[in-house]
Parts: sequence; structure tokens; C-alpha cells
Amino acid sequence: MAALGGFRVSEMESISVTKQPRFEVPDLGVGVGLRVPHYAHVLSKWPAMAFFEIVSENFMLGGGKPRYHLDRAMERYPIVQHGVSLSIGSPEPLDWDYLAKLKALVRHTKTPWLSDHFCWSGARGAHLHDLLPLPYTSEAVTRIAERARQVQDYLEIPFALENTSSYLTYTSSTMTEWEFVSAVVEEADIGLMFDVNNVYVSAYNHGFDPYEFVRNVPHERIVQIHLAGHTNLGNLIIDTHSGPVIDPVRDLYRETIELAGPVSTLIEWDDEIPAFDRLIEESVSIRALRDSVIATHTAERRVSPWINSAPGPHGANKRYADSEPGREPSHTTGHTPSHTPGRAWIQGGPREVPSEGRA
Ligand SMILES: [Fe+2]
Repeated sequence: MAALGGFRVSEMESISVTKQPRFEVPDLGVGVGLRVPHYAHVLSKWPAMAFFEIVSENFMLGGGKPRYHLDRAMERYPIVQHGVSLSIGSPEPLDWDYLAKLKALVRHTKTPWLSDHFCWSGARGAHLHDLLPLPYTSEAVTRIAERARQVQDYLEIPFALENTSSYLTYTSSTMTEWEFVSAVVEEADIGLMFDVNNVYVSAYNHGFDPYEFVRNVPHERIVQIHLAGHTNLGNLIIDTHSGPVIDPVRDLYRETIELAGPVSTLIEWDDEIPAFDRLIEESVSIRALRDSVIATHTAERRVSPWINSAPGPHGANKRYADSEPGREPSHTTGHTPSHTPGRAWIQGGPREVPSEGRA
């Protein structure tokens, strides 16, 4: 077992762990969510896994069986916290009681960062237990950035917001989702939890080019990536987190890693949860993809720095480029990703080709 920032990481995964600073957080490799059906297996067999992500709200009461299981998992694995109840876009004031409990758990788990979602979940005392979409307006950017900065200052660790899947848009929106997401994280000076499957789902549902989304967010702020399966109903995709990561989402992930560099990646599988061995299989497959991109760029970096020339305001990955040992700071010239896609994404949304050989 190898140690990383007080955490213990299995030998199997330690080769893909780097200590490359990235928005002040480490790259943990490829992990999965810690879910109840797997507790018995994980806490008795101790399978190799780079890290586990927990849903904060499941462990905030401070005792009982949930915390017992969490504490046992913490003995051997890095734990990363992900929340679902912050409701950063709510018209209500921030819930400081919730944040106090969250901070206590943050201190307990020593999570290297904490994330929640670009969404609102209720108003006037009602909590709808859903991640509802936001209007993409400058007023919303200002309000959410201010609240996000407060959350990050209070928690005293890097805080990140995640792009969500959505099934409707607002006629009042004045910018694209990626412009909105980018503006908030820049203005708040927070991290971006980048859910590649959510990009794909929303692109399909709303008819935009997912690659335009991927290329135009601030890559140096991506502290973690989410991947997941989904359910395609033909005219609509539902973000069910069931099934494996499909090939078009893997292609988007490849593009993301090419632009962002090594980033901790988490596979979400929350419906029709399979045996843990199937999750390991999926994580090994994703890790192989990630490692192949990293290896390609490691070779290329002998002659060219790993920064991108993507269009838009965030094309130059300055923070990442500057943090490379021996690298000239950000006046270095851009580098075009080797896999510049000639993919047939068209306005009207990507359409899946059924992928053979995947369960
Ligand atoms: Fe996600």
C-alpha cells in the first residue's frame, strides 16, 4: 500500500496516482462510488480501488451504521465527498446548519475537495430532492458565484460545482451552459466537477455539440470527472446512472483528458447496481483509456507542452502548463490535441450508434 496525503492507496492503483498539483488537489486515478450493496464485499475483501466517492448527506448524522462503514472504508481508501443538497441556485439563503454538518464531515473524512451541483432543489422551505436546472443569465452567475465563494471560504477546502443533466431550458437564458458554468467557476474562483456523461445527455436532449462544451470550459479548474451510463429513450436520454459508460461518452472523456490532463475520474453506477467485480472491470477499462491518453501526451510533451489551443476564452490551460516541472510559464505556445475530432456531431444532437460487446 502507498500513502498519499494521509490516505492509503492500493498498490494496484498507485502507479496511476500522481501528485501533480491541480487546483491544489491531487490526481487520485479512477475510482467508484461507495454504495450500500457493496459494503460487505468492500469491507471484507478490500478490493483494489484508487478511491471511493461518498454522497455526503448519507453520512452527516455523525454516528450509527453509516459512519461505522465509512470509518472502516477510510482505513484503507481515499474518500472524496460529493453532495446533492446544497441547492446553490436556490432563492433562499444558504443553509448554515447544513453547511456546519458538512464541514464536520469534511474534517472527518479529510476529503481533498468537495463538490455539489449547478442546480436548485427547492424554495420556501420545500426540498424537492431533485437537481433542477438553472437559467443561464448574468444575474444567476453573480448570485451563484457569490454563494459558491462563501461555501468554499467556509469549508476551507477546494469546492467544485458539477454541470448537471437537464431536460428543459429556460427562454430567459442569455448564454450557453458552458459559458454559464465557466463564468461561475471563474468569478467564484472555485473548481469544476466535470460530468462528461451529463454533457452528453444534455447535448442529446437539447441539440448542442458536446465537443463545443468540452472545449470551452476552463480545463485547469477541473478537479474531478464523473462518468456514468444512462438510459436512451430515443427522443430523450435520462441520466439514470445505470449500465456501462457508452463509447460516445468515452470519446468525450478522451477529449476531456487530452485538454485537461490527468484528473481524478469517478464512475457513477447507481441504478441496477452490479456486483463489485463488474465495477472493477469498468474502472480498469476507463483507467486503460485514461492512461493511454496520458502516455501519448507524456511522449509528446518532450517536444510540446500539454496545453491546448481550444477555441474560446479558456483555451490556454495556464495553471496546468505552469505547474509542470521545468516548464516555461504561460507564454508557451499552444498545442493542438492529437485527436482533434473529425466526429460527425451535428447540431440537433449526437445520435448513438449501439455499441456492440458492452453489457
Ligand atoms: Fe455526476
